Amino acid sequence: MEPILKAERISKSFPGVQAVNDVSFDLRRGEIMALIGENGAGKSTLMQILGGGQRADTGQITLDGESLEFASANDALHAGIAMVFQELSLVGSLSIAENIYANRQPVGRLNNIHWRQLYQQTRDVLHRFNLDLDPATPVKRLVMGQQQILEILKAITSEPKVLILDEPTSSLTPAEADDLFKNVRALQAQGMTFIYITHKLSEVFELADRVMVMRDGKKIGVRDISEVNENDLVSMMVGREIGDIYGVLSSESPTGEEYFRIEGFTYRQTFQDISLELHRGEILGLAGLVGAGRTELARSIFGIAPKDEGRVEMEGKRIEIKRPQDAIKHGIAYLTEDRKAQGLFLDMGLSDNFIAPILKMFTGKTGFLNFDKVETHAVTQIHNYNIATPSTKQKVMNLSGGNQQKSMIAMWMGSQPKVVIFDEPTRGVDVGARFEIYQKLRELTSEGVGILLISSELPELIGLCDRILVMHQGRITGEVQQRDFTEELIMTYAAGVKN
Ligand SMILES: Nc1ncnc2c1ncn2[C@@H]1O[C@H](COP(=O)(O)OP(=O)(O)OP(=O)(O)O)[C@@H](O)[C@H]1O
Ligand SMILES: [Mg+2]
Repeated sequence: MEPILKAERISKSFPGVQAVNDVSFDLRRGEIMALIGENGAGKSTLMQILGGGQRADTGQITLDGESLEFASANDALHAGIAMVFQELSLVGSLSIAENIYANRQPVGRLNNIHWRQLYQQTRDVLHRFNLDLDPATPVKRLVMGQQQILEILKAITSEPKVLILDEPTSSLTPAEADDLFKNVRALQAQGMTFIYITHKLSEVFELADRVMVMRDGKKIGVRDISEVNENDLVSMMVGREIGDIYGVLSSESPTGEEYFRIEGFTYRQTFQDISLELHRGEILGLAGLVGAGRTELARSIFGIAPKDEGRVEMEGKRIEIKRPQDAIKHGIAYLTEDRKAQGLFLDMGLSDNFIAPILKMFTGKTGFLNFDKVETHAVTQIHNYNIATPSTKQKVMNLSGGNQQKSMIAMWMGSQPKVVIFDEPTRGVDVGARFEIYQKLRELTSEGVGILLISSELPELIGLCDRILVMHQGRITGEVQQRDFTEELIMTYAAGVKN
């Protein structure tokens, strides 16, 4: 059978980077093809070329036998290729309905929008994901997982021939991801074809018919799922074998004295009466389902979000945190889950990002920045964190997703914090980089830094933590010691079943 899509000899370079290097592949009608590879391998760039978001330097794309030349994502959509980007692109102030059906609203004879029909249609598609939301709700009120689902619904409802999904589950809960998979399979049964970018190999085996691997901009190979296992894929991706990544890292050393504590943290319905203490060199996990209040709690400790009550003590002394600057001054660092919105200065260069939280260290008596010092620091951090970038001046928005994540870590570690709050540190990060980030966490703890680790990945929490607190609906419902770690026990607390 004729392939639905043919890409021939596609290349694309950016200043200093050959992002896609002479890639050709066929897409079979009705298949789900996974696309995997390390951070910066060129996956998103290649797919953006198919989706009209980037122009190839050279190469040919044929869809259903017709040669294509896209000037924009809208052109691609018209031709029948829709793409859900790695980064969210919704308009926060507009409603759910307006976002999903942007430019496609049902209209009457006088070009008036049929609101009632629009809302009904929206409710119907929300139902596909068991979302019981009011279509008139402004999108900015939704949590990231819900916004991600809207992006997907927006793409699905345009009824494309080929739908490209770029790491769609990175901010979804397991239940939401299941709903997504059900929908993808149902659409596949109706004849839709998919390309699915992911860093989670389990998803490749659960969903895909074939898998394509990229490395350094090149296509390494395409395989039928039935003929490969995880190890094969990992060695294709990284060009070497990687062992058990948590095992190597679990620390045998006992943790030190208690030196940081919060007490009675409460904010309205979001979280109530949360107290916890952290020991030197400890990794304390914070588990829970999305909506349990973990991120809100972290934001409030750091002084970004409000609290009604709550005390903080560092090294035996009461400290006041009203703004993030107060937290930074006292040696607290917070690495957010949403690096785009809160973590990095995207249109600034890497070196400027690195010094943002620690400007004072780089100014002399006169108050002027010492540029040599800034440059040296940037070079060191790029090396330490193995960040793939052509220069210290590269704008952060031009780095691949995983390299942005590493940059955020490098930025905060430069401030030599005493307490670090990590919120989903490995979201969108490839296997190799994940390993590097875990090693960095271990390095920090061996220097006596305590870490509060928020993660939705239970194997990550179980593999790294000394102790895990579990939250459910704004309260701590359980504390689990390392010897008792099991996914089942943590899940029962997280679901609020056990008290
Ligand atoms: N707009 C841009 N300007 C400059 N360089 C870019 C731009 N977009 C991507 N790059 C570079 O091209 C390379 C490939 O990036 P791409 O985003 O395609 O990787 P990826 O495989 O999607 O990685 P990840 O898994 O981290 O999302 C990277 O080195 C990246 O820094
Ligand atoms: Mg990408």
